[in-house]
Formats: sequence, C-alpha cells, structure tokens
Amino acid sequence: MSHTVSAVQPAISIDALQEKISARTARVGIVGLGYVGLPLAVEFAKAGFSVTGIDLSESKIARINAGNSYVQDVAGDEVAALVKAEKLRATADFSVIRELDTINICVPTPLRKTKDPDMSYIVSACQEIAKYFHPGMLAILESTTYPGTTEEVVLPMLAESGLKVGSDFFLCFSPERVDPGNPSFQTRNIPKVVGGVTEACTEMGALFYRQALERVVPVSSTRVAEMVKLLENTFRMINIGLVNEMAIMSDRMGINIWEVIDAAATKPFGFMPFYPGPGLGGHCIPIDPFYLSWKTRQAGIEARFIELAGYINGQMPHFVVEKVQSALNDCAKPLKGSTVHILGVSYKRDIDDVRESPALDIIHLLKRHGANVTYSDPFVPSIRLEDGPLFAREEPDAVAAADCVVIVTDHSGIDYHAVADSAKLIVDTRNALRGVPSEKIIRL
Ligand SMILES: NC(=O)c1ccc[n+]([C@@H]2O[C@H](COP(=O)([O-])OP(=O)(O)OC[C@H]3O[C@@H](n4cnc5c(N)ncnc54)[C@H](O)[C@@H]3O)[C@@H](O)[C@H]2O)c1
Repeated sequence: MSHTVSAVQPAISIDALQEKISARTARVGIVGLGYVGLPLAVEFAKAGFSVTGIDLSESKIARINAGNSYVQDVAGDEVAALVKAEKLRATADFSVIRELDTINICVPTPLRKTKDPDMSYIVSACQEIAKYFHPGMLAILESTTYPGTTEEVVLPMLAESGLKVGSDFFLCFSPERVDPGNPSFQTRNIPKVVGGVTEACTEMGALFYRQALERVVPVSSTRVAEMVKLLENTFRMINIGLVNEMAIMSDRMGINIWEVIDAAATKPFGFMPFYPGPGLGGHCIPIDPFYLSWKTRQAGIEARFIELAGYINGQMPHFVVEKVQSALNDCAKPLKGSTVHILGVSYKRDIDDVRESPALDIIHLLKRHGANVTYSDPFVPSIRLEDGPLFAREEPDAVAAADCVVIVTDHSGIDYHAVADSAKLIVDTRNALRGVPSEKIIRL
C-alpha cells in the first residue's frame, strides 16, 4: 500500500504542484458526487483539468460515465461533452488516488437523531483516501462541519504515514456555499473561501480554486473557513426563526406579516427581509447550526440563539396543521376524514430536493390527525414517508377535489390564480397568493 511507501519517499517541492495546478495538468479528484461534488467536478473539467469523481453509488457512477446528470443545476449535455472529451469520469475505486494530485472531499455531514454531528462519512472517506495518499497532494475538505474538524479529524488520518503538512502535502478547508436552483449564483461565481493548515496550504488551495472559479477569498486558518460557513447558515436560521415567531405573533394580533415585511424592507439600510414559512428544510440550514452548538457545548458555552431558533422553526409544521384544522372547523369539517392536498413538497422553490422538507412533517402530522393526504409537485414525482410510499396526484383535479389545499412550496411554474379559482379552501404558507383577495385563502 502506498501509505507505507510514501513515508520513505522524498517530499516533492511546492513548486512542482504549483506548476501542475497553474498549467492545469494536475489530476483532480472529487470524493462524493452529490449536489456539491458533481457541479464542482464539472467546473474543474470545464477549466481543462482531468477530473475523476469517486463515489460509493454505482448508479451515480454509471450515470456520469454514460454522460448523464442527476443534479438539477448540472446540464446533462455538459456532462456528456466532458465525458466524451475524457475530462470527466467516475469510479468507486479509491486506488485511482495514486494517480491524482488533488482531492476534494464533498461527502454528507448529517446530524444523528440526538442532534450530534455524524462524522462517519468524512471518516470513512478519509480512511480510504489515506490508503493511497501520497506526497505532493492537495486535499480540501468541503463538507460543512464544526470548527476544528479539518485539523482534528482529517489531518491525523492523512498524516498517519509520516507525511508533513505544509511541505509533503497540503490541507485546507473550503466551505461549499452552493444554493441549488439559484439561476444567478452557481459554483463558478460564488466566491470561494479557503483556509489552510499552514500558509503554504492556503496558497495552494487558493491557487487551485482560482483556475476554475471566479473569486477566491483566502482566510488565515481552516477553523476560520469552517466558522464562516456556520456563521452564514446560523445567521439565516436565526433570522428565519425570528420572522417565524413574528408571524405567529402577528397571526394572534390579526396583522398580515407579509405586508409588515414588505413595508419594513423599504428601509434602505439596516434591514434585510427574511420570510416566514412552513418550517426549515434542506441539507444545510436546519442542520449546520447544530454542528456549532455541539462544538461550543464541549467548550462549556450554550448556543442559546441556535437552540431557540431551532425550537421556533421546529414548531412551524405544527402551526400550519393548526391553521388547516381551524380553517376546516370554520367550514364545519373535522380534519379527521377530510382530504388535504399539499401543493409543493420540495424544501424550497423550483428544486427537486425533499431532504428535511417541512412538507414531510406536515403530511405526517395531518395523517396522524386522520386526514387523507394527497400532494402534487412538478419537481417531485414521488415521495416516501416512514409509513410507506405516497404518489403524486395530477393537478388540477386533486386541487379541486381536496377539502383544503396547503401551499407548502411556492414553485414558480404553478398557476396560482387557477389554484385560487378551483380550490375550496387554501392555507398559503408562502404568500404565493399575494394580492388575491378571497375569504377562502388563509395566510400564514
Ligand atoms: N446540498 C447543498 O445545497 C449544500 C450546500 C452547501 C454545503 N453542503 C454540504 O456539502 C456536503 C455534501 O452535500 P451534498 O448535498 O452534495 O450531499 P449528497 O448526499 O448530495 O452527496 C454526497 C455524495 O457522497 C457520496 N458518499 C457518501 N459517502 C461516501 C464515501 N465514504 N466515499 C465516497 N462517496 C461517498 C454519496 O453517495 C453522495 O453521492 C455536506 O456536508 C453538505 O452539508 C451542501
């Protein structure tokens, strides 16, 4: 195995790797080809690098090698052209790392049920990488994680064979900030923050990203880079928590929160609008802040804002179900036995991702109350709940047939005026029916 061999190999010069990166002859590896890894692999392949993606999923590997994309923001044609030009390939075989110069780690970092970080994907990926890691490599962790992970978890595994960081190899953290479904900002034009274990590591990481991405923001350490991502997502999570609490308060006082936000947003300084909704979703905002609170708890500090916002955001699906229940009651219909149609189930507009989607919680709660639940979503053909599969029903029939329609995700391609016309009763959690006056519309 090369990790035992590498200890006796001479350290390669920093210049050699710099030259390969600058000449774009460095062989790039991306571990984890999901929403983050595949767009990154495509950007580096488009910049002229030879890119090898490594994933455990045989189906993803087969689809890439056949020139297909399974990530909405990556065009299939682009993958096909890069595979044909031999700039992009995918494999499950980590031994290709022997031939690679750089490796980006983009594997999942979920939370355990106890809200503790699940480091198992990072650890198992690094165990495999370490087997074939060799002098002269640049490794960059991109998975969102708690401050300290790169140096406390990844570094010891890569340095196990005796290689010295900053001279024999280079290690950085660079947070991934991709926003799936955002047509204006994608991997290429989202500024890339990067911090290395040593100054030489930061320089190498920055040089690497500059080849393919528009703007690179070097920072002084891996911990700063790790904390940047957590600040960004915690900022968002807490502001959403604040506005959700404001929405609950406004509801009790009979005030339209959406009108309040629109008017407040006319202030040209010192205010940034956030909007209430049915609850947090996706792989980042509901999860990442708990990485920070877990870590600070080790240092004896309670992350109180995070816990509070987490609690309020977690109440929103219940609040939505209460709204449905009271709207049906006002029509003399009990929730039990009524048909409730969920319009939009992905966690946000115009994407197909249902991970952590509040729609799943709402469906679960409605079913627990005895409602018959249907759903439709142009991006999501089927969803699986814990208690079995639920298949999409065709619009507009399902909308018109339901006793109540709940707009959970405000996809842009839906004709909301037609929904307003045909539905008997609507709970609108996204203000999709803004400006439509109707007694049958209940707004959040
Ligand atoms: N999705 C987003 O919008 C987003 C945005 C910013 C940051 N992130 C972060 O980026 C990281 C990756 O997220 P994602 O959304 O791309 O996840 P994903 O689930 O879409 O993709 C992860 C990929 O890693 C593969 N994988 C898992 N274990 C592996 C292993 N040991 N070796 C090789 N491959 C392995 C999986 O098969 C999968 O294809 C996470 O830490 C996430 O928090 C995600």
